[in-house]
Amino acid sequence: MNLEPFNKIIFVTRPVFPTIEEVTEKLRDIWNSKWLTNNGPQHTMLEHELKNFLKVPHLSLFNNGTIALIVACQSLRLSGEVITTPFTFAATPHVLNWNNITPIFCDIDAETMNIDADKIESMITPRTTAILAVHVFGTPCDVEKIQDIADRYGLRVVYDAAHAFGVEIDGRGIGNFGDISMFSFHATKLYHTVEGGALVMKDGYTKQRIDLLKNFGIKNEEEVVMPGINGKLDEVRAAIGRIMLNYVEGERLKRLRLHEIYNEELGEVEGLKLMPVCAENVKLNNQYYVVRIDEKIFGRSRDFVHDAFKNFNVYTRKYFHPLCSEYTCYRQLNSSNPANLPVANIVGQQVLSLPMYGDLTEDDVRKICAILKSFKA
Ligand SMILES: Cc1ncc(COP(=O)(O)O)c(C=O)c1O
Repeated sequence: MNLEPFNKIIFVTRPVFPTIEEVTEKLRDIWNSKWLTNNGPQHTMLEHELKNFLKVPHLSLFNNGTIALIVACQSLRLSGEVITTPFTFAATPHVLNWNNITPIFCDIDAETMNIDADKIESMITPRTTAILAVHVFGTPCDVEKIQDIADRYGLRVVYDAAHAFGVEIDGRGIGNFGDISMFSFHATKLYHTVEGGALVMKDGYTKQRIDLLKNFGIKNEEEVVMPGINGKLDEVRAAIGRIMLNYVEGERLKRLRLHEIYNEELGEVEGLKLMPVCAENVKLNNQYYVVRIDEKIFGRSRDFVHDAFKNFNVYTRKYFHPLCSEYTCYRQLNSSNPANLPVANIVGQQVLSLPMYGDLTEDDVRKICAILKSFKA
C-alpha cells in the first residue's frame, strides 16, 4: 500500500449535494408560487413526507435543531434541573441553559457512549423535571430503561436525535420514544436541508403548541398567545429537503459499505475500539465512523493520531472533545466533577471521528486504515 499523503484533502465529512438542475426546478416552483416562508406549500409537503419517512405521528419543521430543542423544552415547560450527558455537541446543554435550566451531567455507558441509564436515578433531585438523552452517533439510547425511570419519577423524556435520522428499533422510527425528539438537518448530517431541523411528538396538541412557539406565539391577526421565537423553515430549504429525501437511502448504503471496510481493516488492531455493535432489531444510519484509541495498548495517543493524520492530508475530528462538563460555562457544576464522570472522561480522551461520506472511495478508506495502522508504536 502506497503511504504517500493523499493528493487531495480528505475531510472528516462532506455534505451531500443534489444536482443543480433539481434545485433549479424546485426554485422555479417557488418563484411561481410567490411564497418564500411561513407555512408555504414546500413546507407543508416536506412535513408530510418526513413524517412518513421517520414513521412518526406528528412533526414540526424548524430552521435548525438547536432552536427546535429550545422550543421542545419550552413546550414541555421544563425548569429546574435536567439530567443529560456530557458526551455530546455543545447545543445539548446550551439549550438547557437558554431555558434557565441547570444541566446535570450523568456519566456514559462504556460501550454505547450514550447516557448510562443505570446511573440516571442517582442524579434525580426534587428539582429534576426531565431527562435529555442523546442517541450519540446514531446508536439508540436504552429507551426502555429511560422511560421506566421517567415514569416512576414523573419526569419528561426528550431525545436529541440529531445523529439518528432514519434509525429504527423493531421497525419503529426512533422518534417514537420519549415525549419529544429533535432531529438536526444541518449540512453535515446524513439528511439535510442546508440548515434545518424538526421536532417529533406524540400528539396533535403538543404539535399545535410547538407550531405556535416557533412562530412568535402568533395565533391569528388579533392574538399572540405565548412568548414564541422565530423557528420557521423557509420554502427554499424545505424544497431542498424534499429533494434530499431521495438521496438518504443511497447515501446510507454507501456509508454502510465504508463501515464494513473500516471494521474489516481495523478489527484486529490492538488498542483500537470500534463502533458499538447494536442488537439485530436496530436499523442504524451509518452516519459516522468513530474509533477509540487506547494509548496504553496502541502506543500513541488520540491527539498524536489526529495530528499525524494531517501530514497525510487526512482531517479527522475529536468528536466529542472537550466534554461539555469541561466547558468554562459548565465546569463549576457539581456534576461536572470528573469523579462523577469517569467513563466520559476516558472516552473524551480516546475518541476520534474518521472520514465518512458517500463520495469517499473504498480505496480511500483502505488507505486511511493503513495510515492509521502505521502510527501504531
Ligand atoms: C448531538 C447534536 N445536538 C444538537 C445539534 C445541533 O443541531 P443544529 O446544528 O441543527 O442546530 C447537533 C449538530 O449540529 C448535534 O450533533
